[in-house]
Amino acid sequence: MRELIHKLYQTQTLEREELIFLISERDEETERYARDLARKVREEVYGNRIFIRGLIEFTNYCKNDCYYCGIRRSNKNAARYRLTKEDILHCCRQGYDLGFRTFVLQGGEDGYFTKERLANLIYEIKETYPDCALTLSVGEKSEAEYRAFHEAGADRYLLRHETADKDHYRILHPEPLSLENRKHCLETLKKIGFQTGAGFMVGSPGQTPETLAEDFLFLKNLDPEMVGIGPFISHGDTPFRDKADGTLEDTLFYLALLRLMLPNVLLPATTALGTIHPSGRELGILSGANVVMPNLSPLSVRKKYMLYDGKISTGDEAAEGIKNLKKRMETIGCQIVTDRGDYYKK
Ligand code: 5AD
Repeated sequence: MRELIHKLYQTQTLEREELIFLISERDEETERYARDLARKVREEVYGNRIFIRGLIEFTNYCKNDCYYCGIRRSNKNAARYRLTKEDILHCCRQGYDLGFRTFVLQGGEDGYFTKERLANLIYEIKETYPDCALTLSVGEKSEAEYRAFHEAGADRYLLRHETADKDHYRILHPEPLSLENRKHCLETLKKIGFQTGAGFMVGSPGQTPETLAEDFLFLKNLDPEMVGIGPFISHGDTPFRDKADGTLEDTLFYLALLRLMLPNVLLPATTALGTIHPSGRELGILSGANVVMPNLSPLSVRKKYMLYDGKISTGDEAAEGIKNLKKRMETIGCQIVTDRGDYYKK
């Protein structure tokens, strides 16, 4: 088992069968070995630097109906909101004053935000904060839309692939969504020149060692600048209300594998990881992660962006908790940096 971890460390890849074996058979000692090695690799590439991104959840309207997600179209219990341009710029101002130099605009697939409206918003944010990076996370769009966003100044785009297995994709998403289009979107984003992020939920219903091996191989092949993974957490108003949550141990192990596979990748310790365990984010960092994404959304809407039950939103993960977050990172020997934290080009 250790040999496989070592092989991954040295060659930055494994065969499908090796991945399946590692994922299904590993013991605690292997997990520890992988996590320690991943931390070492993170330190070799990034030192003790942890990057922060200010997350602005600007709309929870969504035309999609993903079975796992609390803001799915069919959830009639979700209180819908949409921030105005002024609200969003105000979030940026607060974030900037707290030291954030990357803003992440995340939202459901909301038809109100047309190509023109979103491009306009991007342009205005970049005009006001030319020294900041702007990341979008607004789902599947046409090439023309992606191009318009890039031309307006957006630098990065997060679009988790969710699963690289076609049948598993169908378990998680109803039509018309498809893995094929998801992959096509990711390729388009890369082609246009976005720094691109993909990723998946850990422990989503239907996930197996085989589908996970596909995820790792897919990510290796895509070679994204960013990868986001976090535990699946069930939401009471979705068809997956009775499904088990993903675990801390699995998430930490997969974070470690990702760091070993993609040494330069920007890898967040996600809010979902912080939600399933009080020290989730620190443990994520100690397993190879190097990004945290505090919430910059206005307090009045934070509880409405409920992708899953129990989502933390007002503690140290919130932007106003930045001082505490800094302290928490210092206790594990890390330092939050406030530059844009661009990807280290190979
Ligand atoms: N549990 C954990 N993560 C979720 N996401 C959506 N719903 C859930 C859930 N129930 C994740 C998806 C999406 C990202 C924005 O949030 O992976 O890409």
